[in-house]
Amino acid sequence: MIDFDEIKLKLQSSLSPKRFLHTLGVVETAEKLAEIHNVDKEKAVISAFLHDCAKDIPESMQIRFCKEFHIRLDEFMKKNIALCHSFLGAEIAKREYGIKDEEILNAIRFHTTGRKNMTKLEKLIYLADYIEPNRKYFEGLKTAREYAKKDLDKAMILVLTNTIEYIKKKNGILHPLTLEALEYLKSEKGEFVNW
Ligand SMILES: [Fe+2]
Ligand SMILES: [Fe+2]
Repeated sequence: MIDFDEIKLKLQSSLSPKRFLHTLGVVETAEKLAEIHNVDKEKAVISAFLHDCAKDIPESMQIRFCKEFHIRLDEFMKKNIALCHSFLGAEIAKREYGIKDEEILNAIRFHTTGRKNMTKLEKLIYLADYIEPNRKYFEGLKTAREYAKKDLDKAMILVLTNTIEYIKKKNGILHPLTLEALEYLKSEKGEFVNW
């Protein structure tokens, strides 16, 4: 039996107040999306709670933990350590929070980069992270919120496209998994007729 209060308390002590608030927003959104899209609500809520559990660990410690837990840092993660918090987060969810469900762990693991052939739960967490109510306004947010309620794939195509554009514009590090996620969805869904 998952003790949500215990998870919440533990998280509150390991996240900054701002990140904790963001997390609560992701939980709220994930719960709503799970209801709409018929996804296991408990899995959605746990994944949402834990998705950023490693994000406030200082970077040098994140690198150390990745080594210790045998998480391979690829060249992209090495150049942008922020990319590794989701992979490390999955490992910490397993070790510190006792989560064994691979579906939940993968939703945490791929919430930053995405990947091809994502499960519904993975898409839901990726989107909830992006659209949660505490996010400050940015272009495309409103449309992403609308799409997420109606069609997870359509919302993912929009959000991945915007994210890739944003990263390219600021000359950031774009992980190939993100490109693969978009290409896969586009080839799977084909062109949308009624956008
Ligand atoms: Fe994150
Ligand atoms: Fe997040």
